[in-house]
Amino acid sequence: MNGHRNAGIIGTGSCLPDKVMTNKDFEKIVDTTDEWIRTRTGISERRITDGNTATSDLATIAALKALENADLSPEEIDLIIVATVTPDVMFPSTACIVQKNIGAVNAAAFDLEAACAGFLYGLSIADSLVKAGSFRKILVIGAETLSKIVDFSDRNTCVIFGDGAGAAVISEVPEGYGVLSTYIGADGRDGHLLTVPAGGSRIPSSIESVKKRLHYIKMDGKEVFKFAVKIMGDAAEKVLEKCGLTKEDIDYLIPHQANIRIIDASVKRLKISNDKVYINLERYGNMSSASVAIAIDETSRKGILKDGDTVVLVGFGGGLTWGSAVLKWKSIGRY
Ligand code: ACO
Repeated sequence: MNGHRNAGIIGTGSCLPDKVMTNKDFEKIVDTTDEWIRTRTGISERRITDGNTATSDLATIAALKALENADLSPEEIDLIIVATVTPDVMFPSTACIVQKNIGAVNAAAFDLEAACAGFLYGLSIADSLVKAGSFRKILVIGAETLSKIVDFSDRNTCVIFGDGAGAAVISEVPEGYGVLSTYIGADGRDGHLLTVPAGGSRIPSSIESVKKRLHYIKMDGKEVFKFAVKIMGDAAEKVLEKCGLTKEDIDYLIPHQANIRIIDASVKRLKISNDKVYINLERYGNMSSASVAIAIDETSRKGILKDGDTVVLVGFGGGLTWGSAVLKWKSIGRY
């Protein structure tokens, strides 16, 4: 050790609802086709929760799996951060509900809202807190039940989102491993491009707000698309620069899973080969803050990430927000 603390992921877990909703299922409820959805988005199917399942239910299972993977007991966790745009209730926070569910009696807990960049915001904060010595074992969870806020009569949005949760335990790791750098940013000027207008203090819930369908996601897909392609490349380059690396050093890229055309354009800009990019979009759609977290769990468990790999994570979302991180990977639990 060099006297500085290094922070990294020491365990991961995820949870996906069992129910699969295919593109064909959407053909029955909106004016769309399997062909359109696959070619314009890259999505074939997504997971959808049932009426009795809330975000904390998925987050709790993901968290317990991450703890098991890290070989930790819930009492050893001292902070829980849940990134979500679909909390169970306005308050208490979903993080407090997860804390109760898993019995993490020694943990502080709060929610973080940075839409699809939420997990990367959480990772960045957890990295700083562990490095500072303020907390030792932090659970960062990205969890969403977007099906609860999607308008199933709006073909522009309903086909692209899915439900799921991913969790990671962040702790001190040996020098040279773990998080090498993080980068987060926001541009609130374009927040209107992607929003759920009602249910907060600006437009409280009312019969009128329900009639006007203001509790559902509204999105200017074209504008978000343009922003996403630019920011994915910029955020990846910036975070590499922060730790003295270049895009030639990338062994593996885990991007936010919003649209295959956004991923392809960003990968082309970064000039990295497609076999270095993880894609699970076709199976799950866009799960907002859960997408990157679940992708890390899958690549880790499948042994796709190898010890010593330089892994870049990058995401963007409503806010507008973005975030990226560089990890020096080591098989979790084996530090
Ligand atoms: N089926 C059939 N036709 C459709 C569908 C559909 N599901 N959705 C839209 N169309 C139609 C449109 O109505 C439009 O028809 P028109 O020309 O007659 O008006 C036509 O297809 C083209 O529409 P575009 O908006 O230009 O389609 P585009 O190719 O841009 O794809 C999409 C739309 C998939 C939404 C894309 O813009 C996109 O992925 N944007 C980014 C969204 C995103 O990444 N959001 C992430 C953030 S989410 C968060 O933070 C919570």
